[in-house]
Amino acid sequence: MCGIVGYIGDGNGARRIIIDGLKRLEYRGYDSAGIALAADGRLAVEKSVGRIANLEALLASSPIDSHAGIGHTRWATHGAPSRENAHPHTNGDGSIAIVHNGIIENYAELKEMLIAKHGVSFRSETDSEVAAHLIGLFYEGDLFAAVNRAARELRGAYSICAMAAAEPDRIVAIRKDAPLIAGLGENCNFLASDIPALLKYARTIYLIENNETVLITRNEISIFNERAERVKRDVFHVTWDADAAEKGGYDHFMRKEIFEQPAGVAETLNRRLDENGGIRLDGISLTKRDLERIERIYIVACGTASHAGLAGKFAIERFARIPTEVDIASEFRYREPYINDRTLFICISQSGETLDTLAALREAKSRGARVLSVVNVVGSSVARESDDVFYTWAGPEIAVASTKAFTTQLICMYLLALYMGRTLGTLPDGEYERVLSELRQMPDRLSALLEDEPKLREIAKKIYKNERVFFIGRGNDVGVALEGSLKLKEISYIHSFAIAAGELKHGTIALIEQDSLVIALATQDRLFEKLLSNIEEVKARGARVIGLAKAGNREIEKQSDEVIYIPACADEVTPILAVVPLQLLAYHVAKLRGCDIDKPKNLAKAVTVE
Ligand code: F6R
Repeated sequence: MCGIVGYIGDGNGARRIIIDGLKRLEYRGYDSAGIALAADGRLAVEKSVGRIANLEALLASSPIDSHAGIGHTRWATHGAPSRENAHPHTNGDGSIAIVHNGIIENYAELKEMLIAKHGVSFRSETDSEVAAHLIGLFYEGDLFAAVNRAARELRGAYSICAMAAAEPDRIVAIRKDAPLIAGLGENCNFLASDIPALLKYARTIYLIENNETVLITRNEISIFNERAERVKRDVFHVTWDADAAEKGGYDHFMRKEIFEQPAGVAETLNRRLDENGGIRLDGISLTKRDLERIERIYIVACGTASHAGLAGKFAIERFARIPTEVDIASEFRYREPYINDRTLFICISQSGETLDTLAALREAKSRGARVLSVVNVVGSSVARESDDVFYTWAGPEIAVASTKAFTTQLICMYLLALYMGRTLGTLPDGEYERVLSELRQMPDRLSALLEDEPKLREIAKKIYKNERVFFIGRGNDVGVALEGSLKLKEISYIHSFAIAAGELKHGTIALIEQDSLVIALATQDRLFEKLLSNIEEVKARGARVIGLAKAGNREIEKQSDEVIYIPACADEVTPILAVVPLQLLAYHVAKLRGCDIDKPKNLAKAVTVE
């Protein structure tokens, strides 16, 4: 993620327009921001940590403005959120400035080459800074040529916007696998990573495609292909309002984020799979010796993240044969857990700022445990205080109800468990390959599953007036039942309750009566028949049942009033798929009930209080 904006026009005013645009892109990243303005033959760069408002406050005391500039709002990937790591980045003498969205995969080797061969000194820990130096290196008075030449050296995904002090009347941008648009204004033109940035000023847009370069001046937008030939592109007229545009046309961030899951899962996998398809844990030191020393693992988290921990426990115990406990962070620190230097403490957190999780982490650390965290926000407190960090690559999650963070956390837990099992020799090669291949298929399977949304909307219409819902499941389905129930209650305010299906008859079944609604998760082949018996138990008491099973397991249709299918897959990895229909169901139920989906009452995105 990250948002970029470029503007060039008449007279002064670039500063305000760029800041306006960045504010509209804050949903793409908000840990630091910066701007470069062409002023008096140089590029004036200002940056600050935190939200765009901080940058705006900083600029308030500066007289600098311009007719042209570029701006950036950052979602940290390489290097913590800091002023140095914020964009724009410049080359050595500050004559070239760039903003970048995406990841330059070969930045480490480029950095090494730039230092060794050209004596470049780097000011940040980012991957992006190499682009500024490379463009500077190839610059001979023609920014367009220098950007294209530099791009030949880059691998990865990027949109880069560049300016040269010597050419204040042009901005050049290039795109490969990261979004970029150009907007046509009146006596001015724009570049941006997304439409909301420029909607206030321009509604006529060019969508830039991969491997294209765009050159904007005040009067013209020119698009070129890889061979530097001019490309003719039809314009796109935007009819949405700014709010809708920020959500990419989705009604709510939650639905957008549900639909971003195939991409987030693919990204989280790609970051950790090497060319041969093996798992690489760069930056995480877990040798065979380290793993052999571990006596016990605690997975500690809150809410949705703790549900991801349950799948992690199943996977670690099954693949790596290490005793693993899942604990909720608010309880963990007060129960004197058995911890020593042979304990591995894994904490999972989307925000990395949840106070209970952070406190549990500190408690574990103070007692000698080694801490590995699974975190989405780079540079967050949990990430900073952990010995090792396994990042999820979900991108910013804006909706309070967590969706894409959960599925990417699951991917991290599976990769960790597989890695541990293989390293320890507890998981035969064939099994390792089998599960890994299942994970690799997840982005496509998730995309296929999301196509079932119309069916879930129809089911939502039938159930949204229920005031009570039970979720049941066994094995790997228990954690998903808990998560499905949490999603439903937090955004629709329906009283929902999840329980391991085998536990029903030990008390809770007393609540089942005529027309009670039960959502029964039956994705585990091993436990399928047992779950069918549990469905029988609630049916016998008059319950209405929505079954959730793998495609092909049609036996469940006989006992259920409705059935939701997920693509067939191995029992071990079903949570990645099974949660998605439950997210969509919760979403549509909440929508039909007229709830404020992205900001449910009483809840906050990051819980930084105990
Ligand atoms: C529910 C939800 C919460 C969070 C929990 C932990 O949809 O989002 O249950 O999962 O507050 O937050 P993080 O993961 O930021 O530590």
